[in-house]
Amino acid sequence: MLTDKPRMSVFGLGYVGTVTAACFAYKGFNVVAFDVDKGKVESLNQAISFIYEPELDEIIKQAVSSGSLKATYNPNYAIMNSDITFITVGTPQKVDGKIDLRYVEDASRMIGKALKDKDDWHLVVVKSTVIPGTTNNVVKKNIEEVSGKTCDRDFGICFNPEFLREGAAVHDMFYPDRLIIGGSEKSSSYLLNLYNMFYGEKMPETIITNAENAELIKYANNAFLAMKVSFINMIARICQKIPKGDVEVVAKGIGLDKRIGSLFLKAGAGWGGSCWPKDLSALKKFAEEIGLELPLVDATIEINKTQPLILIDFAKELIGSLEGKRISILGLSFKPNTDDMREAVSIKIIESLLKEGAEVIAYDPKAMDNAKKIFGKKIIYANNSIECLKGADCAMIVTEWDEFKNLKPEDFINNMRNPALIDGRRIYDPKIFSSKLKFKAIGLGE
Ligand code: UDX
Repeated sequence: MLTDKPRMSVFGLGYVGTVTAACFAYKGFNVVAFDVDKGKVESLNQAISFIYEPELDEIIKQAVSSGSLKATYNPNYAIMNSDITFITVGTPQKVDGKIDLRYVEDASRMIGKALKDKDDWHLVVVKSTVIPGTTNNVVKKNIEEVSGKTCDRDFGICFNPEFLREGAAVHDMFYPDRLIIGGSEKSSSYLLNLYNMFYGEKMPETIITNAENAELIKYANNAFLAMKVSFINMIARICQKIPKGDVEVVAKGIGLDKRIGSLFLKAGAGWGGSCWPKDLSALKKFAEEIGLELPLVDATIEINKTQPLILIDFAKELIGSLEGKRISILGLSFKPNTDDMREAVSIKIIESLLKEGAEVIAYDPKAMDNAKKIFGKKIIYANNSIECLKGADCAMIVTEWDEFKNLKPEDFINNMRNPALIDGRRIYDPKIFSSKLKFKAIGLGE
């Protein structure tokens, strides 16, 4: 049993790696954060965060100024100055939909190379989302091959998924629902000990299993949540066809059944982000390889493909042809409290509007820079919600940012050329809004 805090290194400064490194360092662990991107390394060493995540800036500042958090682009330095290494590199999607393990392979080979010259036992923890079998067949194999060492005897390996939601990652890091640890007895207890030191009395419930089950838990978790959202979006379509149907009421009604639960039952314009789309696709491809079909995953993806386009149909119902009409898009990030636009439904909606010949003006509290990289000069960018509404023929709520929730019917009526509003995230009271302007909402019958 370790009594001193183990020294840590984190390989891969995406949002999971950055949040993990910063939170451990904030709690007094010595953390070396490694990335091949020198820009990220230099920025972190100057205590400047390169991702937008609530509370993260403060945590990074404290961790760097106390000397607990250092970043490097030298993998050997990171390994030599740590006892545990977390692999948090990205696992993107290949063009064929399969998981792309190249960064996981690179990281494991770098770790193997550095471990060759290290005498002490070292624990490697895979946090990147990987399909079942990867920790043992890819990471362990690479490290053994490159280092010439033997797993368990000379180093240990675990799979330990993260469940950090973007926009709430710091909160989720400090207050997780549970911990999942997959690995041998020795490796698992070493990691368990680290978490005991990190969480103290607030240690969450922990499941210890093998790496393969732990790997599948991560995919099953994301697939189930996405299925829940696609399910309620399917029910929303039924509500739209029923006079006075309202998916908000239906979701509340089923959510009170403890067997279902009320979370992740918010109907809307669809789901996106850096995890669910690629993870569901990777799971599907993995299943294909082992001879299985996943009809529930297929349906989950299928519903989500068409869900954003409902907003386009609504717009046509409200204002007729979209050709030459000015449409204002409120919200671009894939969900509130992040600037992330990866797989955001706003992209699909804007592309469809442009195809219809509409003029698009958009505003988001945080994602404007990312939007400019995606759309360039194809759309107009507003500096705030009101500017976005000026002269528009139809407005669409695509992301449920708090500042949009405060808009009143008069804000739309007084600024738009033709006050027509589509609530793609169910943030407005339909009774109030539909009595004052042309109004349609996801999951709302007429
Ligand atoms: C997700 C998982 O929640 C997290 O545990 C995992 O580690 C990474 O993937 P994230 O991608 O940050 O996190 O977003 P999440 O909050 O899960 O939302 C995913 C998408 O579903 C968003 O586009 C969101 O707008 C949408 N959503 C979510 C709904 O439309 N309705 C809901 O009720 C919940």
